[in-house]
Amino acid sequence: MMIFHSFLFSEGCGSGLSGETLTEHGHQWLGLDILASMLDIALELEVEGDLILGDLGQGLGLRPGILDGAISFSAVQWLCNADKSCHEPRIRLKAFFSSLYRCLGRGARAVLQVYPEYLAQRELILGFAMQAGFSGGIVVDYPHSSQRRKEYLVLTCGPPSLSTTTPAGKREDGESCSDEDSSEDEENQTVSNSRALD
Ligand SMILES: C[S@@+](CC[C@H](N)C(=O)[O-])C[C@H]1O[C@@H](n2cnc3c(N)ncnc32)[C@H](O)[C@@H]1O
Repeated sequence: MMIFHSFLFSEGCGSGLSGETLTEHGHQWLGLDILASMLDIALELEVEGDLILGDLGQGLGLRPGILDGAISFSAVQWLCNADKSCHEPRIRLKAFFSSLYRCLGRGARAVLQVYPEYLAQRELILGFAMQAGFSGGIVVDYPHSSQRRKEYLVLTCGPPSLSTTTPAGKREDGESCSDEDSSEDEENQTVSNSRALD
């Protein structure tokens, strides 16, 4: 008998590659993507997760508290763009984060890799996450490497607590980033030290 660890949500699941990693770790998952062509590839690959064709900017439409956690890779920053005349980024970000908050169990985590184009965009994304009720902040891996730099929104559903502190990012030497690494990184100095936001 297979015992699943958690029920996770892959936001912007694409062809399901990251979902497959969740499967390998014994998790059950549900993926949502805006592109039918990506979901077709996921179907061809016979991924284990259930798939939904949908737009994160319209909210998730899942039952409250149903998710144990959520991940996404390079999807959320697209909500800051107005690709259609009817798109209002602030409304879309609000719909996304408030519905994500509702669908996660209390204390559950969402780890969203983002590529904000500039500081104001990063603050906009983070601001709507905090407004929805999440605690946490931005964690940066390899902050001084233009090629390896990766930025994650690490969110906990509910108020901050000792058991849900935000992890430190990785440094090029494999060590964890210190506060100095964060404050040296000029562009990020207001948001990369997640503890400041807790
Ligand atoms: C970098 S890919 C993620 C790939 C995925 N993690 C995988 O394993 O294949 C980003 C995905 O986000 C999706 N995406 C972008 N904006 C979206 C939106 N508003 N709603 C849902 N999915 C979106 C894209 O269609 C794309 O498949």
